[in-house]
Amino acid sequence: MEKIAIICGTDLRQYDGLELTQSVSCESKYGEISSQVFLSDAFKASVFFMARHGTNTSIAPHQINYRANLEVLKQLDVSQIIAVNTVGGLVDDMSPGTWVIPDQIIDYTHGREQTFFDGIHNPMQHIDFSFPFAKSLRDDLIKFAALKQKSVIDYGTYAVTQGPRLETAAEIARLQNDGNHLVGMTMMPEAVLARELGIGYCSICLVANWGAGMEQQPLDIDAIYTLVEKEFSEMTRFMSEFLAEL
Ligand code: HPA
Repeated sequence: MEKIAIICGTDLRQYDGLELTQSVSCESKYGEISSQVFLSDAFKASVFFMARHGTNTSIAPHQINYRANLEVLKQLDVSQIIAVNTVGGLVDDMSPGTWVIPDQIIDYTHGREQTFFDGIHNPMQHIDFSFPFAKSLRDDLIKFAALKQKSVIDYGTYAVTQGPRLETAAEIARLQNDGNHLVGMTMMPEAVLARELGIGYCSICLVANWGAGMEQQPLDIDAIYTLVEKEFSEMTRFMSEFLAEL
């Protein structure tokens, strides 16, 4: 049976229905992983969970050891990853509270270890990354949302910024000009490392705020956290129903 992993910014143990009871011991040659990996007892399929910012949300996006995280999931024989990401919305349709399943990425990060094929651990190699997300997993999530009458937007280019600060208004205007719909800090190199390992990867994004400068007032960080907390109960319920069908 397929093994699947959920990588999320938040420690999902606090939500009902996922039963993240078993901690799985794992070690990576790339160093420390972000958090313990938990195996859920709630589903027929083996479903692993990892908190990419650590279980106490202390690891900044540029300091996440993406290679270690992905390598241990490969060791656990995971073949599909669903990433859960909170993002800023850059276009009218993607207001706070909207769920989006993106279909493209533009990477604006720098200085992150972003390949296993670095000529040190593995020989240098080019890979195809034209379409960064696993089509069948995206399609399944989109179909399931339709079945549950949950409104999700099934396209979107995710701009990956360095963080941990939010963007300036001028940076947001540039990201919009570049054709991005969403902005977040963690999808790269997570997505490309999954591709290098042959793991199917897709993302479900929760829009938590408008991009900086799209409203008159500065971004209200507390309001972002409040919205995420509120929406995450629904998102975890949706995910557990989806996972139960596998
Ligand atoms: N910018 C970058 N990352 C984010 C944002 C944002 O506005 N909101 C949530 N994650």
